[in-house]
Amino acid sequence: MMSWLQSVSLIQDNFFTLGFFVVVLIILRGFLRYREDIQQFLEDRGKLVKFAATLPGPKTLPLIGNALAIRDTEKAILTLSKMSRDMNGETFRFWLGPFLKIVVPNPRDIQIIISSSKAAHKDDVYKLMEPGVVGGLINANGDYSMTKFLAHKKLIQPMLNGGLVMDRFAKLFNFKSRGLVKRLEEKVDTGEFDVIEFITSFIGDITLETLVGRPAILENGEVMPFLTETQTALHATIYRMARPWLYPYSLFCITKKGREYSEIIKRAHEFIDDNVSQAVDNYKPAKTEDIINMPLLHFLVDHMMKTQELTPVEIRYELITVFIAIFETLEGISCLLILMIAMHPEAQRKIRKEILQVMRNETINEPETKRLNYLDLVIRETIRLFPVGPVLPRKTTDEIKLSNLYFS
Ligand code: HEM
Repeated sequence: MMSWLQSVSLIQDNFFTLGFFVVVLIILRGFLRYREDIQQFLEDRGKLVKFAATLPGPKTLPLIGNALAIRDTEKAILTLSKMSRDMNGETFRFWLGPFLKIVVPNPRDIQIIISSSKAAHKDDVYKLMEPGVVGGLINANGDYSMTKFLAHKKLIQPMLNGGLVMDRFAKLFNFKSRGLVKRLEEKVDTGEFDVIEFITSFIGDITLETLVGRPAILENGEVMPFLTETQTALHATIYRMARPWLYPYSLFCITKKGREYSEIIKRAHEFIDDNVSQAVDNYKPAKTEDIINMPLLHFLVDHMMKTQELTPVEIRYELITVFIAIFETLEGISCLLILMIAMHPEAQRKIRKEILQVMRNETINEPETKRLNYLDLVIRETIRLFPVGPVLPRKTTDEIKLSNLYFS
């Protein structure tokens, strides 16, 4: 009995020794095969680390760099602004795990970057919108997607142009706004309340009608899960962006947030796909005059049926992209705008006076919105004070000269 056990352990020892050598050999072979690539990688990495060391920045920890500083994602932007103040508004470095991020707060430098062809690609951090959105207008990346990105942008942008949308959907906006005002009137003289509860369903409702042609508030008054769930998924993505150890999707999916995210994504895709299928099943070719009155979904399906230049899956991703782009930003800005107007009664009086002067009826039309100059200034100032899209992450492909330094 004893010798049997010993022989088993001997076989195991041999087995592990052999296994160890096989692994070493494979690594060695891989190293020799990719020696030049590895050397190049190490050289580039060395340059990057050396360059980062020339910039000011917060203290880093091994492996995770500065990631812990922004783990409270709700306050991530506030934390970055505070860091920027501590660095006297200078360009500074920030290590998100092994990934170097250069924060450029100077508006003149930002202008140089966003107008440079060397920074035309979105940063890899946008890839974390996958698999919720793959290759949409916000997160398209790489040369292949760039061609698609430009084609989709050319197609979709005119449909989203402020004036055009207002013109096409003025009736809908007027109708829905009256509903919101009625609900807000119930709150007059009742003390403080959180306006977001009213704004979320209103903006979500109007966004879904504009894009898909159906309301987000159901007949029983409940809000369609797509609305709140896409927001939860977006927040989970931002949470993941601040945690480089969750970048591999398989690791993210082990976490509770990751599992919830993948379930939401499945349901959101099903919801949009059902709408695309219905639009295809009921398809009738649109005439030019119909096109300007169409929800984005029907416009894209019409384009797909006539040109075969789009696929249902591409339509799915563009619709989710634009939904997030509109819903998340307008919801935030509308709440902050109402707060600002409430906090500044003098501005409120001026806005009211201007609206009464410009509007001829109970409802507003597109030309009238263009004459609300003071309101426009207040909206712009609110966006300046509370930028809802405060970071423009870009990846550089070559050296760019900023006001006082080079980086690549
Ligand atoms: C206050 C409201 C809004 C703000 C502050 C805002 C901000 C931004 C920012 C900063 C980006 C660039 C992201 C990047 O390049 O990294 C962006 C992209 C985009 N936004 Fe908005 N947005 C707002 C409203 C809207 C609305 C209402 C729509 C649609 C009607 C929209 C559609 C888009 C689209 C399609 C993109 C991607 C296009 C591209 O990258 O070229 N946004 N938005």
